[in-house]
Amino acid sequence: MIKLGVNIDHIATLRQARMEDYPSPVKAVAICEKAGADSITTHLREDRRHIQDKDVFEIKQCMRTKLNFEMAACEEIVNIALRLQPYSVCIVPEKRQEVTTEGGLDVAGQKKYLAEVVKKLKDNGIIVSMFIDPEPVQIEACANIGANAIEIHTGKYANLFKSGKEKALPELEKIKQASMLAQQQNLIFNAGHGLDYNNVYDICAIKNINELNIGFSIIAQAVFDGLEKAVIDMKKILLKY
Ligand code: PXP
Repeated sequence: MIKLGVNIDHIATLRQARMEDYPSPVKAVAICEKAGADSITTHLREDRRHIQDKDVFEIKQCMRTKLNFEMAACEEIVNIALRLQPYSVCIVPEKRQEVTTEGGLDVAGQKKYLAEVVKKLKDNGIIVSMFIDPEPVQIEACANIGANAIEIHTGKYANLFKSGKEKALPELEKIKQASMLAQQQNLIFNAGHGLDYNNVYDICAIKNINELNIGFSIIAQAVFDGLEKAVIDMKKILLKY
């Protein structure tokens, strides 16, 4: 069974747009969990554009499933993760100007620094995942530095899919190869970014997928259908695999 991690950052994006105290990400967590989410993902960005420090600590306290904390590998956020004690972290690249996380982390290019961050988090009992592109050199680097898991960035696949399923096939093949390499390297294999109710099927069909982290499409669908139904409908797709 493929697990569903729901990324609730965009509930906070909506709240921050008006600097209001609603809609509440904490309330969203309870609804997602009731609808079948296996974990909840939040990204405390360095610029705090959506989720705030207070949110993540409240979420951690109230939630019943597992907290997956997306984060940049910078000292400030690593220290917050050590205090927060999420079930897992996913280390992502972060640029202040970007609309969302563009491209995976260059693990191979900063192995020494990232190995120290991974060790610090793992020594505190936190499972560490790295958000990377489906490149063999990056997967091997993740295994080398002792990461527990990788999350493959499916953004490129999702963008290509918009021009037709066939256009996305080469990138899909790269993701399949990545899943096989991850298995050989004993890395848990997760994926996410840009996945929606149409493009998710081919990703689900890849063997060895542990979890998909999906945010924007679910929150966008919730505007019309309500959050509970939006999560249930995505979960129903994942349950078929
Ligand atoms: N996984 C990671 C590491 C991400 O950075 C994001 C976006 O915040 C997602 C998954 C979810 O992407 P989307 O919101 O496009 O579903």
